[in-house]
Amino acid sequence: MGYADVYNGWKADPEGFWMEAAKAIDWDTPPSRALDDSNAPLYEWFTDARVNTCWNAVDRHVEAGRGDQVAIIYDSPITGAKRNITYSELRDKVARLAGALSAKGVAKGDRVIIYMPMVPEALEAMLACSRLGAIHSVVFGGFAANELAVRIDDCAPKCVIAGSCGIEPGRVVEYKPLLDGAIDLASSKPEFCVILQRDEGPAELTEGRDHEWHAFQAGAEPAPCVAVEGNHPAYILYTSGTTGQPKGVVRPTAGHLVALNWTMKNIYGVDPGEVFWAASDVGWVVGHSYICYAPLITGNTTIVFEGKPIGTPDAGTFWRVISEHDVKALFTAPTAFRAIKRADPKGVLIADYDISGLRTLFLAGERADPDTIEWAEAKLGVPVIDHWWQTETGWAIAANPMGIEHLTVKIGSPSVAMPGWDVQVLGEDGHPMPPGELGAIAVKLPLPPGTLPTLWHAEERFRKSYLNTFPGYYETGDAGMIDADGYLYIMARTDDVINVAGHRLSTGAMEEVLASHPDVAECAVIGASDELKGQLPVGFLCTNSGTSKPDAEIVAECVKLVRDRIGPVAAFKHAVVVDRLPKTRSGKILRATMVKIADNESYKLPATIDDPAILDEIRTALRTIGYAQA
Ligand code: COA
Ligand code: AMP
Repeated sequence: MGYADVYNGWKADPEGFWMEAAKAIDWDTPPSRALDDSNAPLYEWFTDARVNTCWNAVDRHVEAGRGDQVAIIYDSPITGAKRNITYSELRDKVARLAGALSAKGVAKGDRVIIYMPMVPEALEAMLACSRLGAIHSVVFGGFAANELAVRIDDCAPKCVIAGSCGIEPGRVVEYKPLLDGAIDLASSKPEFCVILQRDEGPAELTEGRDHEWHAFQAGAEPAPCVAVEGNHPAYILYTSGTTGQPKGVVRPTAGHLVALNWTMKNIYGVDPGEVFWAASDVGWVVGHSYICYAPLITGNTTIVFEGKPIGTPDAGTFWRVISEHDVKALFTAPTAFRAIKRADPKGVLIADYDISGLRTLFLAGERADPDTIEWAEAKLGVPVIDHWWQTETGWAIAANPMGIEHLTVKIGSPSVAMPGWDVQVLGEDGHPMPPGELGAIAVKLPLPPGTLPTLWHAEERFRKSYLNTFPGYYETGDAGMIDADGYLYIMARTDDVINVAGHRLSTGAMEEVLASHPDVAECAVIGASDELKGQLPVGFLCTNSGTSKPDAEIVAECVKLVRDRIGPVAAFKHAVVVDRLPKTRSGKILRATMVKIADNESYKLPATIDDPAILDEIRTALRTIGYAQA
């Protein structure tokens, strides 16, 4: 069957399609039906089933005789460590950690925050939670204490599992002071913490609250898998929205298992036993779905890579990992390839390694620019597949389904809608746009299994953010078009979200931080184009009249403030002081026009602009920091 047959088969009988896919999962109680629409327009899947994620990701492979297969390869060029963990070993480690957590009272439905670097223990912690039916929330290590505190307050975890440190090129990032700071800031206090001590930066433990990882588990009884309802939350993953308050995306257990399992063969074209590598971070959705869960659910070998595409030690690292571990499919963000291409434009380092086992490169997380795709294709000699999805969806909305049919690649397009997704481009009035015309990209409800049913304890925000603009549809927040062949083109976000090196960030959140500076009266943050990272935030600051502090000092303090409050990952390094911001007559800041000026693109003078002369002031200011160059 080709793609069209599979897609049309789904469309003709969506429930039948997903019930068939559900057969690949080991159920404690199989679902009697797929879709639960009793609370439409909020939908859930496989609600009457009972199932355990960890059983499906770990134990069942051991039971099936694959216990000696490597489940996780840990490869850390930044520390020099390398280690393999088989499925049997993984089961034992996870069962013991789950047992220790359970002995401290962690049970089904309790939240556990995981704040860890790219080490296999991060996956073990996630799986130990799933084993108990506890709901994990992994927080990316590049976020500051304040961001961690916001998440602690939102989900009120019973415990936090953290590493003592992360390691970035050239510096050790001590996590423990960030964790302590977050717990101080938060009004909800976790009962206890489990700390994985790392040689590169051991932490001082807080007596009575913190437990050392190994001592915590010593002698613990292995815990069995706890079957949960199909719609029980497997995890919460916070992602950037338009404000400083991140959105707690809820992932439902059964749909997550069914959908992820379906994607491994059908989209990524890999078979059980093969090595699949997602070079991302467990703190992002790609890490949840494709470092941890999907490869393990399908019985692949996954790689936990603690390093960067360049500099650890060089731009040949990716090729070394591919050859050494016989990686069949690599998934990463286009930024990683832009970095490699910049460091080794001719790709000479590739010749040092045998990467003939690699079949496909998958890119997602941000727009894949044609130059990068063409470079990767030419240098690696394998298909380069752009695919489009979001934290909210957990798996690809649009892709080129390599396990079904390798469709013609149209560079600049993440290809076509996957089964489960009725993707449409809507005009402002909510009507579908003709092929080739721009509009808001929306998905006809219900969304498929594995997607967010709601936001954690914020149903109203869920409705407002995703359902209310176009009744009957999920609003993706992306704008773009669909061509006459059904290929999608993702052009821009319709909200204040920007994408910096594949990391999703909120300009609104940065504005909230800048506005808290005592000398800042008003501010705006935009995402300007950047050759390496796709976008970079640029801040505009209007200072209070009478401020005696020099502008440069205020800018430096603001840069530090964003780093301290949001984290280094925000990559907020550029800001300028301006007298005023360009606005419409009704007071709306013209951010989109400012982006065009920064990128030196032509723009139409907004008809409602209050005073066009301000745009020249903005251009002059931007030139002082290297933007808006003629
Ligand atoms: N913990 C602590 N700090 C972190 C961090 C982590 N887990 N991850 C990143 N940071 C810090 C970096 O050290 C850097 O700090 P600096 O300002 O002191 O230099 C800052 O956050 C920005 O990091 P990053 O965006 O990674 O930029 P970089 O300049 O260090 O590296 C690339 C550039 C392109 C090599 C890097 O961005 C990369 O590998 N990108 C791939 C992105 C990716 O995998 N995205 C996942 C989505 S699929
Ligand atoms: P995240 O939730 O961090 O995965 O970010 C999701 C957002 O990243 C999407 O809404 C898009 O704006 C952008 N994005 C992800 N993949 C792609 C892609 N293949 N092409 C263009 N934009 C993408």
